[in-house]
Amino acid sequence: MELIGEYKLIRPLARGGMADLYLAEKQGPGEFVKTVVIKRVTKALLNDDEVGAMFLDEARVHGQLHHPHIVQLFDLKEDKNAYYMVLEYVPGWDLHQLITGMKPLEQSVRAGLALPIICNVLDALHFAHHLAVIHRDISPGNILISTTGAAKLCDFGVAKSDLQQTFTKTGFTKGKFRYMAPEQLEGGLIDPRADLFSIGVCLYETITGKKLFGQAKDEDVIQAIRSGRYPIVLSLPGNLHSPIKTLLQRALMSSPKDRFQSARDFGLQCAEVLATLHSIEKPLFWGDYFGDEAVDHSPSKGQSKKLGRFRRLIGNLSKLSQG
Ligand SMILES: Nc1ncnc2c1ncn2[C@@H]1O[C@H](COP(=O)(O)OP(=O)(O)O)[C@@H](O)[C@H]1O
Ligand SMILES: [Mg+2]
Repeated sequence: MELIGEYKLIRPLARGGMADLYLAEKQGPGEFVKTVVIKRVTKALLNDDEVGAMFLDEARVHGQLHHPHIVQLFDLKEDKNAYYMVLEYVPGWDLHQLITGMKPLEQSVRAGLALPIICNVLDALHFAHHLAVIHRDISPGNILISTTGAAKLCDFGVAKSDLQQTFTKTGFTKGKFRYMAPEQLEGGLIDPRADLFSIGVCLYETITGKKLFGQAKDEDVIQAIRSGRYPIVLSLPGNLHSPIKTLLQRALMSSPKDRFQSARDFGLQCAEVLATLHSIEKPLFWGDYFGDEAVDHSPSKGQSKKLGRFRRLIGNLSKLSQG
């Protein structure tokens, strides 16, 4: 098994454009074992100075963010000429996986699960924005949900802050444009309200189980975003709880001045809508869905065990939503 510095790699987690992620562990005295995530610059890009500089920027920005809803960066190191980050391991799923898994559930149940996740991320953004950090790449793959139900924001790979030393030349292609606010897509100056727009897109997808732009071609999506023509503003599913509709419409306004003005305002509004949902539904808590299954976090059991657990979770959720 390959070693990176003092860490033994257990299995690959994900391969991104710039970095590879692994589940890894470090052993200590006695039976001590610490499981972490290693994010390392992709081998093919080791000689690319711009990539190296961006990776260091990511670490500098991320390293200053200590918050319960932000994945913690423990360390930045170098091994065999490759920089790597040592990150807190979040056992669970990213929001993209969760959206897929929650598709069979009723919309009201999805809303009850989505709102607490979004509240957590807005809490994280409230904190980051106060430190003048704009994430700029809010999307379901960058929101992790732990088996305890807590959501944590990760991937500050294109975040903007005063600590940044390199500036991207390639503009909007650095984030995922289907989640981007119009002003970000245009490559102009952005402020924290661009992150809040992206949160709106994530909320829409989590609650409806649908993509905001469906299967539309990239060029049509770009055209629609530029002209401010969002399907959400034109038509929302008729059966959607009306406070949720209002929330989504506000979050997805094309002009920043018409949106929520701060992560805190948006978060407070989400909490209010969650309360109205609870007045018509049995309250939903993540902990209820996991029971004993939450106790076994053992990473070495691998992906198939994790997926099995997730399927059972979804089975439990379906039962709950019917009863
Ligand atoms: N700390 C973590 N714990 C568990 N899974 C993680 C963690 N960080 C990232 N992942 C998984 O790896 C994926 C890619 O990580 P990310 O940091 O977003 O890399 P990239 O910059 O390539 O997008 C995430 O979407 C998530 O599924
Ligand atoms: Mg990512």
